[in-house]
Amino acid sequence: MRAVIAVTGTPGTGKTAVSKLLAKRLNAELLDLNRLIIEKRFYHVDREGVKVAHLKPLRQEVSKRLRNTRGPVVIDGLLSHLLGKKLITRVVVLRTHPKVLKRRLMRRGYSGKKLQDNLESEALDIILWEAVKEHGEKKVIEIDTTGKRPSRVVNMVLKALKGKLSLRPGRISWLEEFYK
Ligand SMILES: Nc1ncnc2c1ncn2[C@@H]1O[C@H](COP(=O)(O)OP(=O)(O)O)[C@@H](O)[C@H]1O
Ligand SMILES: [Mg+2]
Repeated sequence: MRAVIAVTGTPGTGKTAVSKLLAKRLNAELLDLNRLIIEKRFYHVDREGVKVAHLKPLRQEVSKRLRNTRGPVVIDGLLSHLLGKKLITRVVVLRTHPKVLKRRLMRRGYSGKKLQDNLESEALDIILWEAVKEHGEKKVIEIDTTGKRPSRVVNMVLKALKGKLSLRPGRISWLEEFYK
């Protein structure tokens, strides 16, 4: 079975940086969900001005693209773990300590509620939880990227994909520090 690896995580955790490198190392095609959502206009803007992606057409489009290719694929995007069990062979959930994440997101111009919501989501393991719920523990790899360069993260992910390193989900918790 060919590998279709979803790289997910809260915004700013390094999905794009890691996906690019991982795709290179695996000689895989890179599928950028953000770009696809914009290009195909699979979203609407809600009352608060937030872009809301449309999962169903996105799923259909990804499925179509996968049918038209054969080799391994890396999918970059914070909805990649929600594309459906059948399409995805492994899910990589990137985690970053909320303090570090806060700096990264502020640099990106996040502030107020948007910033707080994302930091809380990271502190509460939301994406990890969604990924495990959808795919089961065995398909999910969770990695703390705090203080690690993307190249090191990718090396660890490659090892985990080969079964040579255990990155089982559920070992990372930012709660104590976040709510102190
Ligand atoms: N492991 C890392 N260590 C330090 N900075 C990183 C790391 N991964 C990504 N970054 C930086 O953090 C920011 C967010 O990374 P990005 O890959 O765009 O995240 P995402 O795609 O998850 O939103 C970028 O400025 C990137 O250069
Ligand atoms: Mg990105």
